[in-house]
Amino acid sequence: MSTINVEKLTKDYGHGRGVFYVSFGVEKGETLGFLGPNGAGKSTTMRHLMGFSSPQSGKAEINGLDSTAKHHEILKSVGYLPGEVALPDGLTGRQFIKMMRDMRRSEKNDRTDELLERFRLDPDCGVKRMSIGEKRKLAVVTAFMSDPDILLLDEPTSGLDPVMQEEFISFIREEKQRGKTILLSSHIFSEVEALCDRIAIIKEGRLISTVAAADVKHGLKNRFTIEFETQSDYERFIGSGLCPEQGDKSVKKCIISVPDKDTNRFLAALSVCRLKSLTEHSVTLEEYFMHFYRNEKRFKVGGVQYA
Ligand SMILES: Nc1ncnc2c1ncn2[C@@H]1O[C@H](COP(=O)(O)OP(=O)(O)OP(=O)(O)O)[C@@H](O)[C@H]1O
Ligand SMILES: [Mg+2]
Repeated sequence: MSTINVEKLTKDYGHGRGVFYVSFGVEKGETLGFLGPNGAGKSTTMRHLMGFSSPQSGKAEINGLDSTAKHHEILKSVGYLPGEVALPDGLTGRQFIKMMRDMRRSEKNDRTDELLERFRLDPDCGVKRMSIGEKRKLAVVTAFMSDPDILLLDEPTSGLDPVMQEEFISFIREEKQRGKTILLSSHIFSEVEALCDRIAIIKEGRLISTVAAADVKHGLKNRFTIEFETQSDYERFIGSGLCPEQGDKSVKKCIISVPDKDTNRFLAALSVCRLKSLTEHSVTLEEYFMHFYRNEKRFKVGGVQYA
């Protein structure tokens, strides 16, 4: 069974809000990016996994433990970085850290000092006086201080400055190498691209796609815009049987995605045409995901049709 397991998780808040029949798994040592527009259901799913909310139907489990029934065990063994950090007034960072450690009663390795130093946080500052980014850093420290093997990170770098975002990304890379299992929600595509092995996309409470990050990145690279010297060159190319996504004989131009299996055919077809220009598109992961964020129901990338 997957280390993090969500099966037909449903929580209906009314008016179409909530999560509906959401199912996915995160395998041991894997990092799954959890993407979706505002209000899609990412934080709701994570709160259910932590056992802070109970499902109406379906289930959320971590390490085979039901998140609702075994909430306390999960709290102890999973590092959770909530989307919104609510800190009690009147405490210093250090006191808050101690409070969290006592609450979790975790006996595992204490990495607090190392993390405070790495993320440059003064723990003796009152939490009330902390900036948004400092509060976020404090949440990072408390999520990782007991060195948990499983992490649920809800927009971990929101509010961090670019230097700290970079530091966080290298930190997570190291944690991945140490075998951590991570579910990471984010709106920052570069972060997702840098860290995630697979990506699940949720929209309006429903999981609409799960893809391997490598497949997306690879598929996106083989896209070309070709400008031909003459209309007969354009026609010769079209006659080769390869199917451009867009083409216009009058301007002697087409856009084509070439799957790896068609590479030789593509080169052969080009070799008998005179070209004005050939441009490879560096389409990013961001562009791929924007199709989902916008309301495009069907689109084609890298020769693959996505519905
Ligand atoms: N306790 C609740 N009561 C009623 N509605 C709720 C509750 N919690 C969440 N919702 C609704 O459920 C939907 C999903 O919210 P959620 O916070 O999970 O979105 P999200 O994907 O994390 O969005 P964001 O990217 O903005 O953080 C939203 O429409 C939200 O208003
Ligand atoms: Mg959220």
